[in-house]
Amino acid sequence: MNNLPLILIGVYSILATFPVERKCGSNMENLWLDVVLVVDNSEGMTNDGLAAISSKLASIFSPAQIGTNPSNSKTTRIGMVTYNSNATVDAHLNHNWSKNDGMLDFYPMMSKISEDSTSFVKYGLQAAQDLLLSESYGSDRSHYKKMIIVCASTYKGTGKDDPVPVAIGVKARGIKILTIAYDQGNNKNVEELARISSPGLSFKQDASIKQIQEALLEVNCFCPSTKWHQYRTPYQSYGTCIQPVNLPSTWTAANNSCHYLWNNSYLASEFTPEKSQFIIEIVKTTDKMDDAYHIGLLRIDGEWYWDQPCGRVSVGNYENWAYNFPSQSEDLSVGMAFKAIGDPLKWKNVEPLWQTSGYVCETAACDTDNYCDASFGDY
Ligand SMILES: *[C@@H]1O[C@H](CO)[C@@H](O)[C@H](O)[C@H]1NC(C)=O
Ligand SMILES: *[C@@H]1O[C@H](CO)[C@@H](O)[C@H](O)[C@H]1NC(C)=O
Ligand SMILES: *[C@@H]1O[C@H](CO)[C@@H](O)[C@H](O)[C@H]1NC(C)=O
Ligand SMILES: *[C@@H]1O[C@H](CO)[C@@H](O)[C@H](O)[C@H]1NC(C)=O
Repeated sequence: MNNLPLILIGVYSILATFPVERKCGSNMENLWLDVVLVVDNSEGMTNDGLAAISSKLASIFSPAQIGTNPSNSKTTRIGMVTYNSNATVDAHLNHNWSKNDGMLDFYPMMSKISEDSTSFVKYGLQAAQDLLLSESYGSDRSHYKKMIIVCASTYKGTGKDDPVPVAIGVKARGIKILTIAYDQGNNKNVEELARISSPGLSFKQDASIKQIQEALLEVNCFCPSTKWHQYRTPYQSYGTCIQPVNLPSTWTAANNSCHYLWNNSYLASEFTPEKSQFIIEIVKTTDKMDDAYHIGLLRIDGEWYWDQPCGRVSVGNYENWAYNFPSQSEDLSVGMAFKAIGDPLKWKNVEPLWQTSGYVCETAACDTDNYCDASFGDY
């Protein structure tokens, strides 16, 4: 009888020390983005349709802190554009959206339905981009991730009205485009809107609030600068970023250098075979970098650990030592990864002040749990 709690504690502590890759933050209350809503108000949408879109967008964004707040950086600004054959800015990014019983109300600000049946998403996109260029870039929120959400019922535009070139330019600036297609009985519209959206950000009107919130949280999970690569597998993005450094260094120098590279950065960890594979692929495409690099492995009192920003974690189930490694030799107290042509990637232990090599640093992604200040990085 008395044994049960003890067994549970035992199981729990094993799980708790098992190294786990950091996940992207998932707290909508801490969303920090600059967003422009782009809503098609051409005749076919109807006023009921606009009201439904408004309430859906309100449900999506209501948990977030909207506006700016000097004592809280994790806030989201929302601008609004409606369009038909041309576009109208209904709300600037600094618009003070009020909440009623905790719910945002977008509808009163939205231009009413137009008598115009033409609808060119190009002009909506262009107006949204102009808002971001003039009110977000160059402002004290230039380091906030930017996003355009397009809600449209029809997809029109070829030649000079084609939205694709504008969308390409928007995305090249790092602005994400999410589309929600309100199809009026034809799926073609959904497929066509997907041509302007960023990968994975094309939705239909029946997408759930939760699905779209998850997409926003994913957009809000990004690396501090273009030198960092976000760790992703085909199935998931993680909340860690890695950066290869091609400067031959000892492990000790590499460790120090990683600690100064960014806030809370450290030598990279390889908790899983997928992570090892991801890192080696990036190393391969890095100029002047051999397939060998220092990682955050170190030995203390005979045990191997991964160096982490909040202490160290034991090397878990995944170990990838080369044949005859780790060597028990006292001097070889830190670890690096290496790959001979044709062989799989392996780890070996080396002397911290002797063997030089490039190295790979790691840091937490910027996300709803981790606000990244503009004072770091190469924005
Ligand atoms: C937008 O379209 C309306 C109706 O066609 C027109 O009156 C207005 O001048 C247009 N605005 C711009 C900026 O082109
Ligand atoms: C926004 O509006 C609310 C309520 O209307 C008001 O209390 C608040 O002071 C306004 N905030 C700003 C920054 O103007
Ligand atoms: C790694 O670098 C940090 C920052 O300079 C330092 O505090 C830490 O002791 C180093 N770790 C090792 C094992 O040398
Ligand atoms: C650095 O990280 C700490 C802890 O995660 C955080 O509190 C702080 O705001 C970060 N500073 C910057 C400038 O990003």
